[in-house]
Amino acid sequence: MKITFFSSKAYDTHFFTEMNEPFGYELSFLDVHLNQTTASLVQDSEVVCAFVNDKVDETVVRKLRDQGVQLLALRCAGFNNVDLSACHEAGIRVVRVPAYSPYSVAEHTIALILTLNRKTHRAYNRVKEGNFSLNGLMGFDLYQRTVGLLGLGKIGNVTARILKGFGCQVLAYDLVQDDEAHEIGIEYVSLDQLFSESDILSLHCPLTPETHHIINEKTIQQMKKGVMLINTGRGALIDTQAAIEALKSEHIGYLGLDVYEEEGDLFFEDLSSTVIKDDAFMRLLTFPNVLITGHQAFFTQNALQGIAQTTLQNIQDFDQQRALKNEVLIS
Ligand code: NAI
Repeated sequence: MKITFFSSKAYDTHFFTEMNEPFGYELSFLDVHLNQTTASLVQDSEVVCAFVNDKVDETVVRKLRDQGVQLLALRCAGFNNVDLSACHEAGIRVVRVPAYSPYSVAEHTIALILTLNRKTHRAYNRVKEGNFSLNGLMGFDLYQRTVGLLGLGKIGNVTARILKGFGCQVLAYDLVQDDEAHEIGIEYVSLDQLFSESDILSLHCPLTPETHHIINEKTIQQMKKGVMLINTGRGALIDTQAAIEALKSEHIGYLGLDVYEEEGDLFFEDLSSTVIKDDAFMRLLTFPNVLITGHQAFFTQNALQGIAQTTLQNIQDFDQQRALKNEVLIS
């Protein structure tokens, strides 16, 4: 069975080739994104493996179906970039990697919080230049600060436990409540309370029609002045323009992003010699209290091994007509 990978990088080739040894599939790695133009590059593959910024819309799905693709294996957790109804109609089943290493994303979330707070990125550059001035580097103790988590699933849970170790008060809002969270002292609150009581607000829910732009002009106004907002979930949870306005008025005091709503044309590529035409993104980069990483929260050895292992297992389950435990179904 042949698997065509889209948006693949050297690290995908490395981990999938290594993990594929016991599976023995034929792997074809393409570095282009999957879209309406590139969908025709699938050759003799029953399986297509896609990533977060591959756009699997209705046209792409039809093109894949016409070439005999039967399975879309996502090598990520989120599936907001896939038209599930179109896949269903085309008879293409969709699987994903619901969990690989929640620690990778949770630990990166903490890295963003600590860096924004203690400004280690700025200190590093200063010290390298022999500048030992502390002006502008003052932070605050995380101890006893209130951190609100929007979404308390796998990643939210690990983040909460780490924050508890710092002595933070952890609040959470989720559609479902979990007894274990109560046991470790996480307090479930309403969404309004989460917005109004958090010193730091971190987003860990999926991107859905309900959560699209859940952070907007109105909800930002509910937040404390000077709030720290962290997003390692999906870019479109935040209305970027509203965030820019709130940074300008200093209502948002710190913004840490690993994801960005228009990241598809930017992230995962070296654009250092290119003129970036996204004005909103460039505006974000001008603020001293904004820290952006390029969708790297998942990027640990452990996570990449887990992603490759689960993706190949999903494909083997399909190949051997077993139940697909990681299938994405239309809700
Ligand atoms: P999960 O499925 O374990 O948890 C998501 C939680 O969000 C669930 O508890 C769910 O009930 C809750 N939720 C759903 N809709 C909600 C709503 N409207 N309001 C409040 N809560 C809601 O997922 P996991 O593994 O914790 O991942 C969370 C998100 O993180 C993923 O959907 C993905 O978008 C993102 N992610 C980002 C990565 C990165 O590299 N930056 C890597 C992996 C995931």
